[in-house]
Amino acid sequence: MAKSEALYRRGFGKTSRKDAWWLQQLLTFLVLTLFIVYATWAAFQNAHYHWGPYLSPFYSPEIWGSSPHAWFGPKPGWIPTWLPFSPALLILPFPAGFRFTCYYYRGAYYKAFWADPPGCAVSEPRKGFTGEHGWPLLIQNIHRYFLYAALLFLVVLWADAIKAFWFDGHFGIGLGSLVLLLNTTLLSFYTLSCHSLRHLIGGRKDCLSSKKVTLACYSCVSGLNKRHMNFAWVSLFGVMLADLYVRMVSMGIWTDWRLI
Ligand code: FES
Repeated sequence: MAKSEALYRRGFGKTSRKDAWWLQQLLTFLVLTLFIVYATWAAFQNAHYHWGPYLSPFYSPEIWGSSPHAWFGPKPGWIPTWLPFSPALLILPFPAGFRFTCYYYRGAYYKAFWADPPGCAVSEPRKGFTGEHGWPLLIQNIHRYFLYAALLFLVVLWADAIKAFWFDGHFGIGLGSLVLLLNTTLLSFYTLSCHSLRHLIGGRKDCLSSKKVTLACYSCVSGLNKRHMNFAWVSLFGVMLADLYVRMVSMGIWTDWRLI
């Protein structure tokens, strides 16, 4: 009898594990649900997403919008008025797709959201395992293309982080400058530790020892890659905190603390 069949026959959710294996899945479910609800709410607000030199990362790049950060000015007239509009809705599919198809998150939310499997060495809800070789999960292979978009977004977010240190044409440091800088740094670690990027740089090559620059880049990304899970979580909180900070300051609930 195959091992997976033996596990199945023992019943869905059955296991010999004695630890609280379900706790990690529960936390994953709660945190990801919180993030999805908050990000969706924030994206539909179309308000309080900027203050002074600060721009919420949920709204960056702001292609069209009402803030001074908008690349091409206000919402164009050809967008139908019945369509809900927000600068965030135009761009969020890219970072959302990047996270949704991330190799780490896939392993986490398959367990947490549809218990497939509920945990390592815990019986699954079905007999066979088709993996991601068939539809609809085949779509997850699109991850490498979301990576290209994420790398472009990083450039924009770094420009935003630098702009956050300029107040009316003068250099300054506000707490918001540091929050946005921290967020961009965490997002950079998350993106640069991506499995697809590691493969792109050197993983697909048989020999790297003769290519010094490639080897150095590959070693660097490999070092970050070991902590990809950690970067995935801290950057998730970082981006939510950055939006919340800008939002609270813009609404007048918090006052930006100027250090310089
Ligand atoms: Fe997680 Fe690429 S594998 S971002």
